Amino acid sequence: MGKYKIAVLPGDGIGPEVIEQAVKVIEAVGEIYNHSFELKEGLLGGCAIDATGEPFPKETLELCKSSDAVLLGAVGGPKWDNLPGDKRPEAGLLGIRGALGLYANLRPAVIYQALKGASPLRSDIVKDGIDIMVVRELTGGMYFGERGRVQTENMGQAAFDTEKYSEFEVERIARLAFETAMKRNKKLTSVDKANVLESSRLWREVVNRVASDYPEVELNHMYVDNAAMQLVRNPAQFDVIVTSNMFGDILSDEASMITGSIGMLPSASLGEGSLGLYEPIHGSAPDIAGQDKANPIATILSVAMMMKYSFGLEDAFRAIENAVVNVLGMGYRTADIASPDTPRENIVGTKEMGRLIISKLK
Ligand code: IPM
Ligand code: MG
Repeated sequence: MGKYKIAVLPGDGIGPEVIEQAVKVIEAVGEIYNHSFELKEGLLGGCAIDATGEPFPKETLELCKSSDAVLLGAVGGPKWDNLPGDKRPEAGLLGIRGALGLYANLRPAVIYQALKGASPLRSDIVKDGIDIMVVRELTGGMYFGERGRVQTENMGQAAFDTEKYSEFEVERIARLAFETAMKRNKKLTSVDKANVLESSRLWREVVNRVASDYPEVELNHMYVDNAAMQLVRNPAQFDVIVTSNMFGDILSDEASMITGSIGMLPSASLGEGSLGLYEPIHGSAPDIAGQDKANPIATILSVAMMMKYSFGLEDAFRAIENAVVNVLGMGYRTADIASPDTPRENIVGTKEMGRLIISKLK
């Protein structure tokens, strides 16, 4: 029997409702596999701004540091959109990633067999499916580089953000990506803009150097503009993609969309130790918050990733994934993944979807 401490940060918008179902899944896994999960809630994002004035309060940092894993819902909403950059809910998200040293973001983009028709791509493009792992660098580059504003002589204000990567930062994310590829189909695409950016030329040099330690992995390099195009032209060519913070932010949204079910996709943010942060990749969707409409599956699958990556509980990981596949196979859908021919009675709310998945765990 394992004992694990989990910090739970529901956040804003639909965050609390999807987290509620994910927490029930954690409790069910604890019962079935006889593990003890100690859950403690904390504030992050807009709700933290309202309560404390800060998007990432000190108490939340302390809570996360004393935990074995962090489960996050979503942050942000129109209420906080006009705050200065460093006081926005998003600053809390960047802050927690930086403070916990979570330099690697794993975003699987998978088409579930039962949802094949949901992809916006033609079936001759989707072919047998899509199964891509985007490995995004998460604590460097432009999102963490020097930024500011200066007054020019006669062109008004100017603003700048800096893309800067050290060999150390590129090497550690490259290694993690090669390791990930070794456990999958041994194909890695490194995405950069080395025809223009010096930071990308260094990125490419370092990735090539690391490649010599992984002779079994087939490595190719792709410019980011081409990669954006190839993802919709022939997504099946990709296995693992490794890229910088900004390119990964953009390409992971694109990769998730081509699966047709952004409400289904989880993510894991990892660092040097076993402490990881797990969150759905969809946002806080304030327009449907509090209406029992949100799809809890991405958050539930984030719990599955937590079981595997932070706790090494492969059984629990597989059980949760299978339960999700099972419920989809039975024809149940939340509104976001329903198709025109889904029978009305099979369209369920957040709570019912959670209940169904838990019933298949047991
Ligand atoms: C994401 C989000 C965040 C990011 C925002 C909300 C800061 O878009 O997790 O991809 O850019 O990292
Ligand atoms: Mg994003």
